[in-house]
Amino acid sequence: MANKDQWGSRIGFILACIGSAVGLGNIWRFSYMTYENGGGAFLIPYFVALLTAGIPIMLLEFGVGHKFQASSVGVFAKLNKKWEALGWWPQLASFGLMSYYVVILAWALSYVGYAFTGGWGADPNAFFFGNYLQLSSGFWDLQGFSMPVLISFVLIWAINYIITVQGVSAGIEKACKVFMPLLFALSIVIVIRGITLPGAWEGINWYLEPNFSKIANAQVWVAAYGQIFFTLSVAFGVMIAYASYLPRKSDIVNNAFITCLANCGYSFFMGFGTFGILGYMAKTQGVAFQDVVSASIGLAFITFPKAIDLLPAANALFGVMFFVALVVAGLSSSISLVEAFVSGIVEKFDMPRKKAVNIVSAVGFLVGLLYTTKAGLFIFDTVDHYVSNYIIIIVGLYECIIIGWVYGAEKIRNYVNPLSDFAIGKWWDLCIKVITPVLLGVSFVQLVYTDIVNPYGGYPWSGIIALGWGAVAAVIIAGIVLASKPWKSDVLSRPVEEVQE
Ligand code: PHE
Repeated sequence: MANKDQWGSRIGFILACIGSAVGLGNIWRFSYMTYENGGGAFLIPYFVALLTAGIPIMLLEFGVGHKFQASSVGVFAKLNKKWEALGWWPQLASFGLMSYYVVILAWALSYVGYAFTGGWGADPNAFFFGNYLQLSSGFWDLQGFSMPVLISFVLIWAINYIITVQGVSAGIEKACKVFMPLLFALSIVIVIRGITLPGAWEGINWYLEPNFSKIANAQVWVAAYGQIFFTLSVAFGVMIAYASYLPRKSDIVNNAFITCLANCGYSFFMGFGTFGILGYMAKTQGVAFQDVVSASIGLAFITFPKAIDLLPAANALFGVMFFVALVVAGLSSSISLVEAFVSGIVEKFDMPRKKAVNIVSAVGFLVGLLYTTKAGLFIFDTVDHYVSNYIIIIVGLYECIIIGWVYGAEKIRNYVNPLSDFAIGKWWDLCIKVITPVLLGVSFVQLVYTDIVNPYGGYPWSGIIALGWGAVAAVIIAGIVLASKPWKSDVLSRPVEEVQE
């Protein structure tokens, strides 16, 4: 097999990992998750989840990706040929996530345009569902495409393709070196504007003040663990693939800490901007803080446009900056989702990278078209619930069990420590072998129970089974099929790197 593409520099690698991690999840999902789960009450489980699961799993994924110099497919197949499907599942989940992630990015891109002129009009809620998404009556009522969504969708895919087709260092790394500084500059302006508005601190207080009665609620914890996995891009094969592109002598531990802390620090920081603006909105409208926000998905596309209209000055400028930030953050994540799946295909089938990117992008585009129909929102919401909860939990669980117990957590720890700026202690083994799997197991039971008692989103069972469980089943079956194909490359016969000096 041709030599693997590599990152050009340490900073390039870190920016690409942060680029993957920081995305729609940090701005759009983090704020509505925090909002729905009790504001400050959510932050405690969130940071506990970061320390007990997020950082340990990031270390694990960087460690195995680097040690085996392979994507999750290669890692699991090398551990045991029979486990190869387990390596495909996270990569297929990335593919599933990518198919609708790009659609939300498309919404954000359209909103950059609307922000110039306040194109969402006097009623952003009616505009979003009616004029923009042109939402149909329900799940099975597709009614053709919503043209404004479709146009942006094609544009986002074009940008995504242009970046990924260039490869790891010339495409992804270069793009992230531009996107990340741009995103941080925009975010600083957004936060400063947010916290200096009248009434902002009402919102920020709500954001920071823990409501201890919520902390006893198991669902808040499940949401926090789900959010940490999603936001850090772990259990999707992305970080394993990214670490496999590192040169042999590369720090692992410090890079993992930097990625996790930068990502969660960024979410926390942006929260000040978002909640500041919500506080301002509550004040100008004279309503209680809890009553300003519309449905979860609507936070960025309904509540924010309303808030932007209410700003005292420079509304259009602020609106454009906010939605450009969303697009930039999301693009560096969507390219990583393409890369996760591409890495597995290139590795197993010894396929030229360009061909793999062409196939993955074409299929991703075609599947994604489903979400640009007028029933797209219902479909996306259901598939998202299943892909980004069930698959993440299941993958996280077996990664911990197989690497922690079967392969041996200490082998990874002993491998990464000599390479790294600082070393991890035995606490890490404990997290991977016991704490994280137990918490994930509890989350899983809780999730299944809630979903059986209340079908997700009140959707019809036909939709939940066909598209929610259907998506999970499709991932599992596709993984088994891909694993059954013969290997065309020599990755499996290459020795696994042992501890360095
Ligand atoms: N971490 C990204 C976000 O927060 C989403 C993502 C998940 C990207 C998994 C890649 C893999 O938006």
